[in-house]
Amino acid sequence: MKAIVLDNPLIQHKLSIVRNKKTGTKEFREIIGEIATFLCYEAMSDAVLQDIEIETPICKTKAKKLDENQYAFVPILRAGTGMLDGLLKAMPNAKIGHVGLYRDEETLKPVRYYYKMPKDIASREVIVLDPMLATGGSATDTITMLKEDGVEKIKFLCILAAPEGVQRLEKEHPDVQIYTACLDENLNDVGYIVPGLGDAGDRIFGTK
Ligand code: PRP
Ligand code: URA
Repeated sequence: MKAIVLDNPLIQHKLSIVRNKKTGTKEFREIIGEIATFLCYEAMSDAVLQDIEIETPICKTKAKKLDENQYAFVPILRAGTGMLDGLLKAMPNAKIGHVGLYRDEETLKPVRYYYKMPKDIASREVIVLDPMLATGGSATDTITMLKEDGVEKIKFLCILAAPEGVQRLEKEHPDVQIYTACLDENLNDVGYIVPGLGDAGDRIFGTK
């Protein structure tokens, strides 16, 4: 599956703000949440709806309903939690699992430190959240863990993706659709996305 890139002028405008190193923590966090909401709408474009009947102030009519109980959001700690509020605005009843991973600065390999899922995760469609798809190690490892838990339908949402990360995720998990606000140029020699936005976790939480 090819990565789906949200090619939208308003999103490009918002991305310029988060890429700018002068943008402060508050605005950075708010815009990451806003873009995440847009990504969620895009990721739900193939959702299966139920037919229901409702009554408007004017008349009875047929309508559509989404069963939010079929979904779970899984942010990758830390930076993925910066996208969570944006998704919960769109689907407040989805359940939430957490995966704790950090990237070893030398090897760039993900190191696991936390994994907690809703009990019925295997029966849900899972939407994995992480602002940055760089080497793809963190996303690939998270999705492997979810599949080991029996999850069959997984989507991956990020704000920026490097071609290297997209290629790796597509190779190792070809069934997982990637949604990104932008496909960037490449990775630099320390594994950061170029032009990128810097360290997403540090900018969301103000830790540097
Ligand atoms: C960042 C980012 C991803 C990962 C991407 O997290 O949020 O999880 O790096 O890199 P990869 O595609 O090469 O695996 P980081 O390890 O810095 O942890 P943090 O969210 O706690 O800051
Ligand atoms: N993680 C980040 O936070 N930023 C990058 O550019 C790459 C990995």
